[in-house]
Amino acid sequence: MNKDFLCLTDWARADLDALFALARDLKARHKRGEPHRLLAGKTLGMIFEKSSTRTRVSFEAGMVHLGGHALFLAPGNTQMGRGEPIKDTARCLARYVDGVMIRTFSQQIVEEFASYCDVPVINGLTDSYHPCQVMADLLTVIEHKGGYEGLCFCWIGDGNNMANSWINAAAVLGFELHVATPQGYEPDAGVRERAARMGARVLYTNDIMAAARGADVLNTDVWASMGQEAEQQAREKAFQGFQINMDVVRAAAPECIVMHCLPAHRDEEITDEVMESSHSVIYDEAENRLHVQKAIMATLMGGK
Ligand code: CP
Ligand code: NVA
Repeated sequence: MNKDFLCLTDWARADLDALFALARDLKARHKRGEPHRLLAGKTLGMIFEKSSTRTRVSFEAGMVHLGGHALFLAPGNTQMGRGEPIKDTARCLARYVDGVMIRTFSQQIVEEFASYCDVPVINGLTDSYHPCQVMADLLTVIEHKGGYEGLCFCWIGDGNNMANSWINAAAVLGFELHVATPQGYEPDAGVRERAARMGARVLYTNDIMAAARGADVLNTDVWASMGQEAEQQAREKAFQGFQINMDVVRAAAPECIVMHCLPAHRDEEITDEVMESSHSVIYDEAENRLHVQKAIMATLMGGK
C-alpha cells in the first residue's frame, strides 16, 4: 500500500476493494449512530488553492466522525500564498498534523508536497486527477448495481481531471469504459498510454451516441473546469452536442444510472430533466465522498 492517495494507478485493485469495503462498513456504522472514532485525537490539514463545497465539508465532517479534527488552510491566510516553498511547508506541516489533503493546480505540486511530507497526503483534486471523487462514484455504483465488474461505463464531455481518473480506475479495476469527447478535448495522452500498457479496455470516440449505447453508467462534468473560466465561451461552442439529455439516457441500458461530480451547469453538460430523473444517483455520489474519504483517511492515517 502507498503512503499517499494521489493517483488511482498508484494503488492495487485489492487495496481499492478494501477501501470500498471499509467505506461501506463506516457508512453503516454512521447510519446506525454507532461511534467509530478510528482517528481519535488525530488532525488533518486541508490546503485549498481552488474553491470547494463538497470536498471541504466532507473531509472536515469525516474527521469529526472519526474523532479527529480538520484545519482549513487557504493560501490567502498562510505563507504558501506569499510564495513559501512547497518543501518547507510540507516538512513543517508533517510535524504538526497526521495527514494532509490538498486541492491545487498541477499534479506536480501534490507529488512534490508528498515527497517532502512524512505523513499521508491525499489528492483533493488537481488539474490532472480527482481520485477521491471517482472512489465515491464507484462506491455509488457498487451500492446501486451490486459491483462494478461486467458493467459498461461511459464518460461524456471534457477529457479533464475526472475523465483521467475514470481511465485510471478502468486500468486498475478492469471494467469497460467508453469516453466521448469533442475533437481537441481528448484525455491526456500520457494517461491514455499508461492505461493501454496496463491492459485497460477503453474506447475513445467523438461519437456520443456510440459511447452511450448500452452503457450501464453515464457520467459527465462541466465543460470548463476551475482555472479554465476564460475558455467558457469557446468551450460552450466546442461542446455542442456533448450533453447528457433524455435521448442519450434512452440510448444507454434501460436501468442505467447517471452521475455528475457537481457542481453542474444545468442544461449545459446535463439537462435539468436528467438530473431530476429516476436515473440520477448524483446526490448519493455526493454523500459517498464522506464515507469513502473516511475509509481513505482511516487506512492511511493509522486508525484502521
Ligand atoms: N465534486 C467536488 O469535488 O465538489 P467541490 O468542488 O464542491 O468540492
Ligand atoms: N472538473 C471539475 C471538477 C470539479 C469538482 C474542475 O476541475 O473544476
